[in-house]
Amino acid sequence: MAKILIIVGTESGNAQMCADHLSDNLPALGHEVEVAGDADAGSAELDGRDVVLVCTATHGDGELPDNIIPLAERLRAEAPDLSHLRYGVIALGDQTYKATFCQAGKDMDALFARCGARKVGERLEIDACTQPLPDEEALNWAQEWVTML
Ligand SMILES: Cc1cc2nc3c(=O)[nH]c(=O)nc-3n(C[C@H](O)[C@H](O)[C@H](O)COP(=O)(O)O)c2cc1C
Repeated sequence: MAKILIIVGTESGNAQMCADHLSDNLPALGHEVEVAGDADAGSAELDGRDVVLVCTATHGDGELPDNIIPLAERLRAEAPDLSHLRYGVIALGDQTYKATFCQAGKDMDALFARCGARKVGERLEIDACTQPLPDEEALNWAQEWVTML
């Protein structure tokens, strides 16, 4: 059983919806899930955590959602030792943005890796242009992802 902290980066709620769907369904597979959502993600505490799942949209021109920027800035500025942490990434985007498709998820991925966290599985990239059910895609991916923890 894993204790998973899902850190949400969202502007209009899709990433939060994905995280809530995982939080509703992963406990049935024996995992404990906590969600650091819109209001809490920026100040998420990573000490004492074992598993983090970053679930973030991209906004602007390849930018992070506002609510998760404080966390990214902290990781960038302080580069804390996160070698105790395993992590995964669900990136929400829209392929019509081409060069910046899922950029925020890619950036958070790189930040956790730079701090020594160990990545589990491949990053999921959900394209809003072709996927009307991002929460279902996220859950399908996460059901496989938790078997790798
Ligand atoms: C103003 C705006 C800018 C966006 N910029 C990007 C972008 O640069 N790259 C990308 O992949 N998706 C971009 N998107 C698409 C969002 O990431 C996508 O719709 C996502 O599902 C939104 O999730 P949220 O509701 O959690 O904020 C943008 C969406 C909006 C409305």
